[in-house]
Amino acid sequence: MDILSDWLSAQLDKDSAEPAYRQLLQLMQQAILTGRLAPGTKLPSSRTLALDLDIARNTVLHVYDQLSAEGYVISSTGSGTYVADTRPDSAAVGLRPPAGANASAEAGSTTAAAACPRGDMSVRGQRLIDEAGVSAKQWGAFMPGVPDVAEFPSRTWSRLQSRLWRSASHDLLTYAPGGGYRPLRRALSDYLRVARSVRCSPDQIIITTGIHQSMDLAVRLLADVGDRAWVEEPCYWGARSVLQSSGLKLAPIPIDDEGLNPGEADLCEPPRIALVTPSHQYPLGMVMSLARRRMLLEYARQHKVWIIEDDYDSEFRYGSRPIASLQGLDNADRVIYVGSLGKMLFPGLRIGYMVVPERLAATFRTGVAELYREGQLMQQAVLAEFIMDGYLTSHVRRMRTLYGERRQLLIDAVTRHFGDALPVMGDEAGLHFVLGLPEHCDDRAVTADALDNGVIVRPLASYYSRTQERKGILTGYACVPHEQIDPAFATLARVIEEHAFTRAPHALRRTA
Ligand SMILES: Cc1ncc(COP(=O)(O)O)c(C=O)c1O
Repeated sequence: MDILSDWLSAQLDKDSAEPAYRQLLQLMQQAILTGRLAPGTKLPSSRTLALDLDIARNTVLHVYDQLSAEGYVISSTGSGTYVADTRPDSAAVGLRPPAGANASAEAGSTTAAAACPRGDMSVRGQRLIDEAGVSAKQWGAFMPGVPDVAEFPSRTWSRLQSRLWRSASHDLLTYAPGGGYRPLRRALSDYLRVARSVRCSPDQIIITTGIHQSMDLAVRLLADVGDRAWVEEPCYWGARSVLQSSGLKLAPIPIDDEGLNPGEADLCEPPRIALVTPSHQYPLGMVMSLARRRMLLEYARQHKVWIIEDDYDSEFRYGSRPIASLQGLDNADRVIYVGSLGKMLFPGLRIGYMVVPERLAATFRTGVAELYREGQLMQQAVLAEFIMDGYLTSHVRRMRTLYGERRQLLIDAVTRHFGDALPVMGDEAGLHFVLGLPEHCDDRAVTADALDNGVIVRPLASYYSRTQERKGILTGYACVPHEQIDPAFATLARVIEEHAFTRAPHALRRTA
C-alpha cells in the first residue's frame, strides 16, 4: 500500500450510512484541494486502489470519472490519471486594489464606512437590517395591518383553482407576459375605476408581488441613487426601507390634519419621488384634503416629481364612502398608484398592482419582467375569476362590516378603561387605529411589555425618522375575533396603566 492508500483506508468508514463512492470522492477532492495530492501526482490504478481499500473496482472507476468531470484530475488513455493543476493564479489573487478602492463607492456612504475595510455588509444593507421593522409575529391581538384570514372564502378559491388546474394551458404555467395575466389586469382596471376612481386601462396595470415590489420597481425605473425622496413623517417603515435601500436620500415631510404639509425649505428642493398615503395617512389616519392634493399635483407637474400613491387599505372606511384616489385627479400623468390584495384578501397571497401613466406602461412591463421574472400566473388567473365573479366585492363588503364591529368593540374597551384620557386617532378607516399615550410614556417600552404579556402592538416611535411628535401604539383589530377583544385589551390596559399612570402618577389623570 502506498501513502495515499494508507491515508484513504484510515479515513474510509465502512460502517457509515454514507456510500463508499461518496466518501471516497470527498476524500480525494479534499486531498487535492489541500495539497496532500500535489498537481501532477499520478493516482494509483483503479484496480490497485480497489484492492488496497477492499472496495469494488467499479466504485473507484466512478470516483475517477467524477473527479475527471469536475476538473480535479486529468486522465489519458494508456498513461494513467494525474492530479490537475488547479491552483489559483497567484499573480491574479495577489493583485492589490488601487489605494482608496476599498472605500465604499456608494452614494451616501458614511465616512466611517470609507475609513474601515469593508465587512460583509454594504452600508445600505447594514442600515436596512439595523432599522428593520418587520416583526417575527404576524398574527394575534392586536397585530396592526393584518386582515382576518380565517374569514377568507377558501372553499370558493379552491373551487376556482381546481377548475383552472384541470384545464391548465401552457401559458398559465410559464413565465408571465410583462405586466401580468391580462384578464386580471382587465378585472382590476374595472374594479379600480369604480371602487377607487382610478383612471386607467388594463394596459396601464402592472401586476407585482405587492406594494413593496411596486415601490421598488418604480424607484429603480424612475430615480437614481442619491435622488431625493419625500416621505411623510411619520411613515410606514417598510416603504422607508425600500426607498432607502435603493440609495434614495429621504426627506421626512411633516403632516398635519390635511395630510402632507411641506414647508418653504422643503418646497425649494423638489424631490424626484414623493411617497404619500392620501386616502388614509399611514399610520395616523388623516385624509389628504382636496387643497393639498391639488397643490401636490401642481407642484409635481411643475417640478417633474413622481408621486407614488400608496393606497394600501382604503377599501375599509367605516361610516362614509371610500375617499377617491389622488391618481384620479392627476391630469399631468405624475402619479404612480400602488395597491395590494393583501389587506382585502390575505397577505400571503402576495399579489399587488400598480397603475402607471400610459406613456410608461411598456417600460414598466419590460422592467418588471427583466428584474423579477414574473410567475404565479395560476394564482393570478384564480384571482381574476374571483374578481369577475363578484367575490372580491362581496368579501370586502362583508369584512367592512365585521372590522367595523371589531373597531367599535375595541374603542368601547378603550373608553371603559381610560375614559377620554387616551385619544384614539385615525379610526375612520383601515385595519388599525393609533392609541395615543401621554408624552412621558416610552411607547417602545409599552410595546415590549405588551408582547411579554402576549399582546402585539407597534410603537409609533418606529414610524418617525426624526423627532417623535406623538406617543402612541398602533392597535389592530381586524384579525381579532370579537370575543377576544375585551380580554386581550384588559391585558394591554394593565401594561398601559403601569406606564401611563403608575410610573408617573401626576402626569395624567384618568377621567374614566
Ligand atoms: C402603508 C402600507 N403600505 C404598504 C404595505 C405593504 O403592502 P404589501 O404587503 O402589499 O407589500 C403595508 C403593510 O402593512 C402598509 O401598511
